[in-house]
Amino acid sequence: MADVNRAKSLPLEFKLVSAEQVPLTYAIEIQEYPESEAASLENLIFRQEAAPKLFLGCYLRKDEVQDDSPSPTPNNPNSGNTEFSSLELIGYIVSTLVSGDHLTHSSMSSHNPSGDAVCIHSVCVSSAFQRRGVATRMLKEYLQHLQGLNNNVNASSPSNKLKRVLLIAHEHTIGLYAGVGFALIGKSAVEHGPDPWFEMVYTLDH
Ligand SMILES: CC(C)(COP(=O)(O)OP(=O)(O)OC[C@H]1O[C@@H](n2cnc3c(N)ncnc32)[C@H](O)[C@@H]1OP(=O)(O)O)[C@@H](O)C(=O)NCCC(=O)NCCS
Repeated sequence: MADVNRAKSLPLEFKLVSAEQVPLTYAIEIQEYPESEAASLENLIFRQEAAPKLFLGCYLRKDEVQDDSPSPTPNNPNSGNTEFSSLELIGYIVSTLVSGDHLTHSSMSSHNPSGDAVCIHSVCVSSAFQRRGVATRMLKEYLQHLQGLNNNVNASSPSNKLKRVLLIAHEHTIGLYAGVGFALIGKSAVEHGPDPWFEMVYTLDH
């Protein structure tokens, strides 16, 4: 199990990813995912525009970084922006809405604004910060954020509540998602890249 203290020792901050920040997520996406699985910049822009509340960034507070942490990467295009000048994007989770109990290639390719399920497309952490519990902490924060969205939905329109979070994962990351409460559904029908995918679900209070 990940030592959550490793991530606790990193000064992290979570914020929704703005349109201006999407290229930064794309830079991490193409660095960390194999070419056959990485989302295009157009896809990430589409997702941010379609579902901005479902695109959560994980930022490192550079001014609080301890000496043993990896150096922040240079060339942050937001370095002149006071809100982001001391923050470095090191990971993110991006989703759209779908309806139904299972993910299909078709449902994953679009966004259904009245969908009751969150489909996570990417959970990604910059390689310099991997295996320090960052994805675990990010997923916990994301699930709390989704629960918060549900809690803010007007009680008179319960049909707008989010019921579940779905994702497909490769076998080696099943433990990561199980560790934050996802249940394994089984092998997914989705084919994308050479390796099989396993579908997992997290049930939200609604
Ligand atoms: C998968 C990914 C998000 C994990 O991020 P992370 O911050 O390193 O994850 P954590 O440190 O929270 O890992 C928690 C636990 O999950 C498991 N885990 C995480 N990454 C793993 C990997 N590559 N292989 C096997 N187990 C892994 C381990 O049990 C780990 O605990 P441990 O480090 O004590 O062994 C990161 O490697 C990544 O961005 N990869 C590229 C994109 C990707 O493949 N995303 C997942 C799509 S399904």
